Amino acid sequence: MRVIIVKDYDRMSKLAAKFIADELRRKPALVLGLATGSTPIGMYQELIRMHKEEGLDFSKVITFNLDEYIGLPKDHPESYHSFMWKHFFQHVNIPESQIHIPDGTLPMEDIPAYCEWYEKRIKEVGGIDIQVLGIGRDGHIGFNEPGSSLGSRTRIKTLARETREDNARFFDGNIDAVPKYAITMGVGTIMEARMLLLLASGPNKAEAVKKTVEGPITAMCPASIMQLHPKAVAIIDQEAAKYLEREYEVDMG
Ligand code: GLP
Repeated sequence: MRVIIVKDYDRMSKLAAKFIADELRRKPALVLGLATGSTPIGMYQELIRMHKEEGLDFSKVITFNLDEYIGLPKDHPESYHSFMWKHFFQHVNIPESQIHIPDGTLPMEDIPAYCEWYEKRIKEVGGIDIQVLGIGRDGHIGFNEPGSSLGSRTRIKTLARETREDNARFFDGNIDAVPKYAITMGVGTIMEARMLLLLASGPNKAEAVKKTVEGPITAMCPASIMQLHPKAVAIIDQEAAKYLEREYEVDMG
């Protein structure tokens, strides 16, 4: 895994945006795998700035989001649909027909077939070029919680208590309001992307980063599978990198 340690959140965001912009200029019909959470917001802001000020063109881009809660209406403020429109899609020129976010409003019994369709759709467009990833405190990627099969595909996942506690702050601090299930791309789905771009910032992520980069590959830390990916880049700020013991690229901007 290529690890780049940066000064802070701002530098992480700008460097991540630059990776994507460089690829996008080379390949205008880029297929992007996108993530939610507070971590990638700065990267989205920088991409929006590049679109507005430098004419970075997203008109041919196709996107697939990693995951979505089950049971929230799309217009619920905490749905990942709302998140993506608010923080990215409404500010750039990706046609709506080229945007894919798992549909968490379907009845439970229809979701397995829908997940198969999602996988098929990714293949039809030629696979994901760059998959952006945040990381959960428990080492999850997407909503692949510890114990997820490292070969898993898009499916329903029960959320870990830790994840629901972490996300309760977005639901007025009420853990009971946090959905119990989500649709998520599988670890196997994620690993098929041609490039993985993991972002991590802040001391809360330091332990998960340590396990991901320097720990053994284990389903108990799903992000650790990235060690097997031929083109995985992790951009980590100093605080999130504080437990790393080996030498890495350093980019202090
Ligand atoms: C959620 C998302 C993950 C994300 C994680 C971390 O659980 N499903 O994709 O990586 O949150 O969120 P944050 O970036 O806010 O720390």
